[in-house]
Amino acid sequence: MALARSLIHWGAILQRSRVSGELKRRAWVEVDLDALKYNIEQIRRHIGLKSLMAVVKADAYGHGAVVVGQTAIECGARYLGVATLEEGVQLREAGLGSPIVILGAINTPAEVQTVLDWNLQPTLCTPKQVLTCAESLTRSHPVHLKIDTGMGRLGAPWLEAVDFVRLARTQPRLQVESVYSHLATADEPASEVLDQQYLRFVAVLDALKAAGIAPPLTHLANSAATLRNPELHYDMVRVGGALYGLYPAPCFKNLLDLRPVMQVRARITQLKTVPAHFGVSYGHLYRTDGPTRLATVAIGYADGVPRNLSGRLEAIVRGKRVPQVGAITMDQLILDVSSIPEVCETEIATFLGRDGDEMIGAEVWAQALGTIHYEVVCGFKHRLPRVVHRSSTVRQLQ
Ligand SMILES: Cc1ncc(COP(=O)(O)O)c(C=O)c1O
Repeated sequence: MALARSLIHWGAILQRSRVSGELKRRAWVEVDLDALKYNIEQIRRHIGLKSLMAVVKADAYGHGAVVVGQTAIECGARYLGVATLEEGVQLREAGLGSPIVILGAINTPAEVQTVLDWNLQPTLCTPKQVLTCAESLTRSHPVHLKIDTGMGRLGAPWLEAVDFVRLARTQPRLQVESVYSHLATADEPASEVLDQQYLRFVAVLDALKAAGIAPPLTHLANSAATLRNPELHYDMVRVGGALYGLYPAPCFKNLLDLRPVMQVRARITQLKTVPAHFGVSYGHLYRTDGPTRLATVAIGYADGVPRNLSGRLEAIVRGKRVPQVGAITMDQLILDVSSIPEVCETEIATFLGRDGDEMIGAEVWAQALGTIHYEVVCGFKHRLPRVVHRSSTVRQLQ
């Protein structure tokens, strides 16, 4: 079923490209909106009546913040979460009207003015930020208060949480919309730090209650916490990676069925057969063992395929895995397609995603690179157009 769907998508792209030539591009990132919607439905079913903040920072982890944000709201997300004011303004300029929370800190009166001008909801993390915001606002405005329960990044120290929240609540122009914290190790199979952060968050909420303070919303969970334990859901979950089909770690795969949203593909621009001992690409880091069919493909490290993957990368051509050989260059790389003699120029190689029965996930690249799959998907540059596709339609995003 999934395969049939992907072939329909793919067929639609090819057909359109043949007809108009419009989509005949050298390399692109596909964003599968059906997969995104499916993932959101799965997550919403999993959280029941709790609210969802769709985290669309960093251009929705490389997938395109506007289209992802719009889809998430259509599918029932209550808030969108971004890291910076610029990211929030981008969504407003594109016409999105939903509540948008800035997850990064807001420090200056000028930033507060931007918050007001674009109706964004700031996160405040220190007493100074609370006072700056309160003094710079010209009317009452929603804000979110962040407590550091052990992440060590943003937030008021958990032992000072009650005074911090009380300070914000005494500022007439601040409408405290939520109190939240962020987890450092929710993706680890068993984590004492997670237990400790949870207990600290519980203690903060208990202390607030004892002080007669009931924030409208409390939230703690990222994707990993959302998947692993409903006790961590509170009133709302803040989900990024899982929206995009990225599991926090392999052990989370049996908790929820998620589908990868991003595919990366590029065209073969030249084919040649070379003899044994033939040096390939810069530095001749690779030499052929015997006669070899080489395919040059129009994607490189300037597009987001890290040069560090040289000689360790695979692509899928005509549903078969083939190795990449030699150094990955800025705009191009080379595949050994000797196992597929019938392959032609302008055919498509898949670097991330599915082609036929084969599938390459971002976690495979991440493992080879010694990083996480989030960094892989965020690494696709705007040099590559995003092509959004649904069951049977294709449209260019950027
Ligand atoms: C404050 C905050 N909440 C939620 C998230 C979403 O995390 P994830 O993508 O693991 O769901 C992030 C992302 O780093 C974040 O910074």
